[in-house]
Amino acid sequence: MNEYVSVVRGVGGHLPARVLTNADLGVMVDTSDQWITERTGIRKRHIAADGETTSDLAAAAARKALHAGGLGPDDIDLIVLATATPDYTFPATATIVQNKLGITRGAAFDVQAVCSGFVYALATADNFLARGQFERALVIGAETFSRIIDWSDRTTCVLFGDGAGALVLERQDKAIAGDRGVKSVHLRSDGRYKDMLYVDGGPSTTQTVGHLKMIGNQVFKHAVSKISESVRAAVDQAGRHIDEVDWFVPHQANMRINQMVAHKLGVPEDKVVHNIQRYGNTTAATIPIGLSESFAEGKLCEGTTVLSAAFGSGFTWAGAVMRF
Ligand code: COA
Repeated sequence: MNEYVSVVRGVGGHLPARVLTNADLGVMVDTSDQWITERTGIRKRHIAADGETTSDLAAAAARKALHAGGLGPDDIDLIVLATATPDYTFPATATIVQNKLGITRGAAFDVQAVCSGFVYALATADNFLARGQFERALVIGAETFSRIIDWSDRTTCVLFGDGAGALVLERQDKAIAGDRGVKSVHLRSDGRYKDMLYVDGGPSTTQTVGHLKMIGNQVFKHAVSKISESVRAAVDQAGRHIDEVDWFVPHQANMRINQMVAHKLGVPEDKVVHNIQRYGNTTAATIPIGLSESFAEGKLCEGTTVLSAAFGSGFTWAGAVMRF
C-alpha cells in the first residue's frame, strides 16, 4: 500500500478593499489610535463591502492559491473551509465556494473551530489525503467578522477584520515528497470556557446571528499558555527542535500574545511573522494570510520549515508544522 503525505502546492490571501483605521474607530467609539496600537499592535483592518460575503473572499483567495501552484479548479477534489461567519446557516460556505470556482466533483464542507479553524481544516484535509481518499485539497480560512461585531463595544470592535486565505495541499507518495509536507498537527479543545468568548446568538438558541462577547484579559492569559502548549506539542510530534523552525506564522489576535509566546519558547523575534498591524484579527484567515504573504516575500521556499499555532473560542487551540 502507498504511503502518502500532503505537500503544499500554493497559498493565496485576499482582503476586501475597504480599510478602517484606528482613527476611524476613534470617531465611532471612545478609543484612540494610541490605546489600540499599544495594547494590540493593530493600526488598521479591512472590512467587507455591503453584499461582499465570506464565500466571495474565500473564492478570491482560493483562485490566488491555485494560480500560485500552477493549478486550476479542475485539479481540486476536496474543499475544507474554516469559518465562524458563514454566508448562510446552511449550506456550507465551502459548497458555495465550490460552485463559484466551477468545481462539480469531489466534496466540500465547513469546519467550525473559530480562530483555530484553519489548523483544524488543515488537519482534516491532511488526514483525507494521507488516507488516499482525495488527491488535492483547498484548505481555506475565511471570515467576515465585521458582521457579528457590536460596533458600539470598544472592547471588541477594535480587534477584528475581514479576510481570507487559502492553501492547496496535494497528496504525494512519501518516497517522492522526501522531507516535504505536513509534519504534524496538534488539536485541542476544552468547552468549559465557552462564556469567556462566544457569540450570543444562533439558530437553535435565539434564532438570531448575535454579537461577539469576550472577557479580553482572561482570554489573553489562556491564549499565551495554550498557544505555547500547541507549539511544543506540534514541534515534538514533528520530531523537530524549535531551533529547526525557520518561520513562526501564528494566529494574529494580539501582537503581545505572539511576542510573549515567542519569548517563552525561545523563538527569536525575527522569525515571527506579524501582520496584525494591517489586518487586525481575521480569525480563521490569519494563518493562511500570513503564509501567503510570507510565500510572496520569498520566505517560504522549498526546504523551509514553518510552524503555525492558534487559539480561539471554545476554547480551541492547535499547532502545525509544515515543510515546504
Ligand atoms: N479603547 C480604550 N480603552 C479600552 C478599550 C479601547 N478600545 N478597550 C478596553 N479599554 C479599557 C477597559 O475598559 C479598561 O478600562 P478600566 O481599567 O477603566 O476598566 C482598560 O482599557 C484595560 O482593559 P483590559 O481588558 O484589562 O485591557 P488589556 O490590556 O487586557 O487589553 C485586549 C484588552 C482585548 C486588547 C486584550 O485583553 C486581548 O487582546 N485579549 C485577547 C483577545 C483575543 O485573543 N481574542 C480572540 C481570541 S482568538
